[in-house]
Amino acid sequence: MASYIINGPAKNFGGSVRISGSKNSALPIMSAAMLCPEKNVLYNLPRLSDTEAMAEIMASLGCGIERREDGAVEISADIKKPRRKCGYALFSRLRASVLIMAPLLARFGKAKIPMPGGCKIGARPIDLHLKGFSAMGAKIRQGHGFVDASAPGGLVGCRIYLDFPSVGATENLMTAACLAEGSTTILNAANEPEICDLADFLIGMGAKITGAGGDTITVEGVEELHGCSHKIIPDRIEAGTFLIFAAGLGAALKVEKTEPRHLKPLIAKLGEMGLDCEAGADFIELHPSGRPKAVDIKTMPYPGFPTDLQAQAMALLATGEGSGMVVETIFENRFTHIPELCRMGAGIKTEGNAAFINGVRHLSGAEVRATDLRAGAALVAAALKAGGKSVIHNIEHIERGYESFTEKLRSLGADIERVEDNV
Ligand code: UD1
Repeated sequence: MASYIINGPAKNFGGSVRISGSKNSALPIMSAAMLCPEKNVLYNLPRLSDTEAMAEIMASLGCGIERREDGAVEISADIKKPRRKCGYALFSRLRASVLIMAPLLARFGKAKIPMPGGCKIGARPIDLHLKGFSAMGAKIRQGHGFVDASAPGGLVGCRIYLDFPSVGATENLMTAACLAEGSTTILNAANEPEICDLADFLIGMGAKITGAGGDTITVEGVEELHGCSHKIIPDRIEAGTFLIFAAGLGAALKVEKTEPRHLKPLIAKLGEMGLDCEAGADFIELHPSGRPKAVDIKTMPYPGFPTDLQAQAMALLATGEGSGMVVETIFENRFTHIPELCRMGAGIKTEGNAAFINGVRHLSGAEVRATDLRAGAALVAAALKAGGKSVIHNIEHIERGYESFTEKLRSLGADIERVEDNV
């Protein structure tokens, strides 16, 4: 257990920051590398506790995973059969472990994994994943905390309609369909940039996929796939988080090595708040500004406003001018940052999935707790502009998703220290 100590406000915050590879692309791509026995090489794979957990899961199944001196990660899955059973301890570390089902089922005909279970932000069922696998001919059994899917004769292509454009279900089913017999069509598919990145990787391995990035994805199954090299896209949520940090402080910031197209909803909202952004080919520059004007925000599947930036945006509105509303439509319990922000002086009330934010001029440093990854980032946003010392506990949530976080923040002028908690 560790904490961040932040002394605010960060008066000299600003400069430029280089964005890392996307966590949410890296995880499904690492898992999909198990679809073939040949070596895959991944560039721009972020060093995070989540990618480490995925690497450990894959290593426990028999994969070789190595980070080279140039930073690229080599994955080889030259295995006849996964070596070990998928145990609860490893799999429960990361919800995206459910994505291991696709390569296990498609290549080896069997996937038995612990149910990923719920987490702080909602129940997060996997029914859409299982419904899709079942439509492709897999027999699904659930019991004793495990889900056991088997398709000894291989998966068979079909039409799958998703009741909700789930990112994870789209990834799992698109990946599995690559080695299925015949054609699979996924209707009402998610169209997040990470889906396109995964599709590009799979196509590099020899998969036949069309339509990724739209709401209908078609996959023509092939007999086998081969290894390839792939560069993971920049992390749009990390870029958005740093822009919000700077916006809250009225600071100028250049986020480099990013993909501005993926951040259109945030750039639009910052514009509505009166904060000016300039997007280049691979950078976004936020100009110095005054207090943001209050706006309303509603989270939606891409290209709507991302739920993964909702908490940070709320921290920004907390010191905005006027009153704004934030509606969370993706996860049913994604407001756990609110009581913590209120401890720092924010004026926020909730009613169901709506939060009403009454902007205050100043926040004050306080002792708070990160309840999940993005809630933690929101507390950092608040602590950077709050007067005095803040202590943010449970930062292991934050370290799941932000590479070299304290180093990057310090280089921008933040006074932040990471301390191990005394048990
Ligand atoms: C992914 C992201 C996460 C992001 C989310 C939404 C990764 C590793 N994580 O999570 O950061 O916040 O997309 O953009 O990429 N649902 C069901 N049944 C299912 C699957 C999902 O009801 O079988 C529901 C969920 O409970 C949730 C909604 O669909 O309410 C969206 O979930 P989903 O898009 O699947 O999110 P994840 O893939 O888990």
